[in-house]
Amino acid sequence: MGPDTLQMDERHRLSIGGVRVADLAEEYGTPLYVMDEVTMRRRLQAFARLLAETEIPTRLVYAGKAFLCEAMAGWLKPFGVGLDVVSGGELYTALAADYDPAKIVFHGNVKPAAELRYALKAGVGQIVVDSLSELQSIEQEAAALGVRARVLLRLTPGIDAHTHAFIRTGQFDSKFGFGLADGIGDEAIKSALDLPHVDLLGFHAHIGSQILEAEPFLADAEALLEYALKWYRQLGYWPHVLDIGGGFGVRYAEEDHPPDLRPVFRQIATAMRKMTPSEAQVPELAIEPGRSIVGEAGVTLYRVAVVKRVPGGKRYVAVDGGMGDNIRPALYQAVYQARLDGKAVDGPVSEFTVAGRYCESGDILMPSVRLPEPATGDLLVTLATGAYNYSMASNYNRIPRPAVVLVADGKASVWVERESWADLTRRDRPYAAASTPNDV
Ligand code: LLP
Repeated sequence: MGPDTLQMDERHRLSIGGVRVADLAEEYGTPLYVMDEVTMRRRLQAFARLLAETEIPTRLVYAGKAFLCEAMAGWLKPFGVGLDVVSGGELYTALAADYDPAKIVFHGNVKPAAELRYALKAGVGQIVVDSLSELQSIEQEAAALGVRARVLLRLTPGIDAHTHAFIRTGQFDSKFGFGLADGIGDEAIKSALDLPHVDLLGFHAHIGSQILEAEPFLADAEALLEYALKWYRQLGYWPHVLDIGGGFGVRYAEEDHPPDLRPVFRQIATAMRKMTPSEAQVPELAIEPGRSIVGEAGVTLYRVAVVKRVPGGKRYVAVDGGMGDNIRPALYQAVYQARLDGKAVDGPVSEFTVAGRYCESGDILMPSVRLPEPATGDLLVTLATGAYNYSMASNYNRIPRPAVVLVADGKASVWVERESWADLTRRDRPYAAASTPNDV
């Protein structure tokens, strides 16, 4: 849980990446997102090793929706990995960092025509197609630009991973992809093979997120292979790429135990070798981890603003951030752990509810967490906030979004500046008096 470099000294002062959290808060203010370079690098390299050990062709693609900014894209570049984007905005961010377009994979169940055009013009490596009508739009846009679109078809193989319903995507009735139950997939593949400006590279399936078991990933790969074989027999088409998506769970709480993925990747590779027809080539196995690269690398620093007891005895710790910088507890009942800087974790603790500052009763970051006695001004460090916190942040209550800093080798660098109040009104236009006065 938390970044690999998280340390506590003899006075219980916390540091990450060799930098004291108190110094970070002092210099950059709170709330503050802090990303640990070592943890991100180790997670990325661990996936790269897992894939290499399969000894089949593989591709590691980072899912940008978990956390993306220009510096993140810039940081990723030297690793040579692919980058998933799900919107024109994410694509723009990647291109602003000079990311190789050929390594970019464009996802999303809705890709507006202008975004498809932008992606095709930029020369993105793959577009993951979500519907028949999108396939037609891609054909039209590609024809108009005189290019060919390299596509994967996103299939929903009917795998029901055990995760929160809001982040589950593999079941037949999902809003994502081509459901395989009613022959819709058959129609899609025929259409993709027929369209003159479309190159069908292969198939994709992402079954959900924060999955803490290994078996569903094997089931996912096997389902894709079985469909591939069926189509091979019917149409003579064999995929070059099988992309099993992301969704590898991370540790938010003591009771979360992410599985060892090595055996399952070995099994997937074996299944891919075994099920590939002898006259065809083993497809490239692609994976798209997001959370598992950045989730545990990130922490959020908050300043404790209020400590109070309410009738009934419940004790609240209210901090200077909340649902605007971390919507996950409110949206998914996500559980987080926290530390208080300078206070012993092994001393006396009591139960607290950590509340945010947003005008919403549901803005509770941690409904029940055991902490040493907090005081106004303390620094509260929430662990494992690197994925889907910054990327889902909002300006609710017109509260500026926090800065993001990267820590490495005892130094911090700003990746995203803190928003200012002026940023909040920058695109506002002053009220222009109506020609007729408003009577109330
Ligand atoms: N590939 C595809 C096609 C996806 O839809 C996703 C996530 C990923 C890869 C990366 O999944 P990961 O490895 O990060 O689990 N906002 C939610 C998570 C939504 C995930 C959506 N798709 C949350 O905060 O838990």
